[in-house]
Amino acid sequence: MVDGYDPLSPEVRAEPSVAYQHLLEEAPVHFFEQFEPPFYTLSRFEDVQSALLDIETYSSEWGQGPRFSPPSGMLSNPPQHTFYRSLVQKAFTPKAIAEQADSITELSHQLLDERTDPNNWDLHEDYAFPLPVIVIVNMLGIPTDDLQRFKHWSDVTVEAMGAEDPTPYAEEMGQLAAYLLEVIRERRADPRGDLISGLVAAEQDGKGLTDEEVLSVVNQLFVGGNETTTSLITNMVWRLLADRPLWERLVAEPELIDAAVEESLRFDPPVLGLYRSTTRDVALEGGTIPKDAKVMMHYAAANRDPRAFDSPEEFSLDRERNRHLGFGLGVHFCLGAPLARLEARVALRTLLQRCPDLQLLGDGERIAPYFLWGRKRLPVAG
Ligand code: HEM
Repeated sequence: MVDGYDPLSPEVRAEPSVAYQHLLEEAPVHFFEQFEPPFYTLSRFEDVQSALLDIETYSSEWGQGPRFSPPSGMLSNPPQHTFYRSLVQKAFTPKAIAEQADSITELSHQLLDERTDPNNWDLHEDYAFPLPVIVIVNMLGIPTDDLQRFKHWSDVTVEAMGAEDPTPYAEEMGQLAAYLLEVIRERRADPRGDLISGLVAAEQDGKGLTDEEVLSVVNQLFVGGNETTTSLITNMVWRLLADRPLWERLVAEPELIDAAVEESLRFDPPVLGLYRSTTRDVALEGGTIPKDAKVMMHYAAANRDPRAFDSPEEFSLDRERNRHLGFGLGVHFCLGAPLARLEARVALRTLLQRCPDLQLLGDGERIAPYFLWGRKRLPVAG
């Protein structure tokens, strides 16, 4: 980086890590003016960590994205946030998630069996995308026979997040909402043992949730959990194959799979950063952030801060205490982390067993939003 940092520039979009040292050393409180609204970026581990824990000053009330959006469901501050989170928490505890290990392993094998050409297949399209989508639609109780439509809606959602103007995507986003609302109404009339049935039965102060309130939670699970887990799997496999000795070591020492997943979350986090809004002026070592400003918490840059990690630029399978911020921190710490971890571990284990000679056939194609990091294609052989 010569002067300044532009998260929208083609150079930074193509490889966000080119900017991290600049942010960490020269601009720990960076102000980016060429955006509406302009926003600040915090990148040092200590600063990001402190901000995530100080929810009075760094509020989620105006959304996690770069624009000011009205508070909704889980994307808000306590106590509303606490209530919404508690509705689905039980289904996502490590214990509840561990029970799905066998079915997710079976699914991973089935997806590999269904590849049309093992000598030229797409790790994103055939494996990393369908795996988390099938798991979450099963948990929610949505029919799985319409995977192509979900793929399309998922693509549109990601495109909309990356667009300067999301208006052209509104119609299709509306179709997804209408589809989900129909399932919500069906479960209200005829409850089953799934998550949506649980949500429609939930009560707050003796009052049930409206369909729209249930929709906001379902959306958060569906949108927040799919593309991210897909990206974790593609980013991790891409990095391991690009640095072949890492892949070979994992084939020989599969007990390092958990370490590989954590290191991928540190080195290539699918969510590079998310936003908070300040409720007061904040003076930091690198500058002052005024009240009512949008601030990006740069998890990915913080994960490469040499003040917090030894040899941060090395992808290491031997890191002992990997306290990365790939899932955020504090009250908004990723609810789906146990599920994402299990899916990524299973996906990698099955690949190492079934495709030890896997090769990259290219670098794939990066997804659009500047605050997310993943690929929409990853051609491989083997
Ligand atoms: C590798 C995959 C994933 C990554 C990298 C990821 C990342 C994150 C991050 C960084 C946050 C914090 C947001 C903030 O601080 O503003 C978050 C929150 C959240 N994630 Fe994930 N996530 C992943 C998978 C999932 C999955 C599989 C689910 C559910 C099916 C999920 C559901 C959620 C929910 C509901 C929240 C909001 C929690 C709250 O505000 O209390 N995520 N995620």
